[in-house]
Amino acid sequence: MRAQSFLELMRFVGTTMATDADAKKRRTALAALELARREVTIGVGTGSTVNLFIDALAAQPGSVRRAISSSEATSARLRAAGLEIADLNEQSGIGLYVDGADEATPARQLIKGGGGALTREKILAAAAQRFVCILDDSKMVATLGRFPLPIEVIPMARALVGRELGARGGRPVWRKGFVTDNGNHILDVHDLEITDPVTLERELNQIAGVVAVGLFAVRPADLLLIGTADGVETR
Ligand code: A5P
Repeated sequence: MRAQSFLELMRFVGTTMATDADAKKRRTALAALELARREVTIGVGTGSTVNLFIDALAAQPGSVRRAISSSEATSARLRAAGLEIADLNEQSGIGLYVDGADEATPARQLIKGGGGALTREKILAAAAQRFVCILDDSKMVATLGRFPLPIEVIPMARALVGRELGARGGRPVWRKGFVTDNGNHILDVHDLEITDPVTLERELNQIAGVVAVGLFAVRPADLLLIGTADGVETR
């Protein structure tokens, strides 16, 4: 095959793969919109899947009036979509919180934080009566940990937390150049064996300097909407 044709073929395969993943994400985003319509105020997470959910909200003005946002990026998109941003401190709680995930188990335990918004996402999950996670089927795993576990840390404690994680068998990698909306740093922890996510989440939360751990196991999602090639599976 000529080099030119080969490049064209690879470009086509790349586009097709991207399109497939996007189609799955769009399906789950649209399914979440059906649940969100019943609410006046919803919590909204961060990431590419959530962005498609916000696009769906924008395409149907008035389907939801107000949102509490998990990041500055999401707030900007929500405003552009015509939603009002509410302050969590002025609400008694949230009926529904919609967010993506980097990994999920059939027990609805998650790894989140690939986009770096994990702390506010945890707050929204804690405040929500119902946490609906939207994701495509490539993110379903039997055991969490293939995706490096994001941990938000106070900058002065980065090395200290890194050593503590190393002592637990993890390989923390500083997400250099990235500062969270809260002014903190992220360590992405590789090689952790997450056989007991609830216990690990509780233990890691105890390390001085840790702001939030990207394990959502103590408070898992209530519902997974899994976008597949054929439709949306619920769990
Ligand atoms: C943001 O901090 C994350 O928790 C996202 O929810 C997660 O990374 C999923 O993002 P994508 O939908 O872009 O995969």
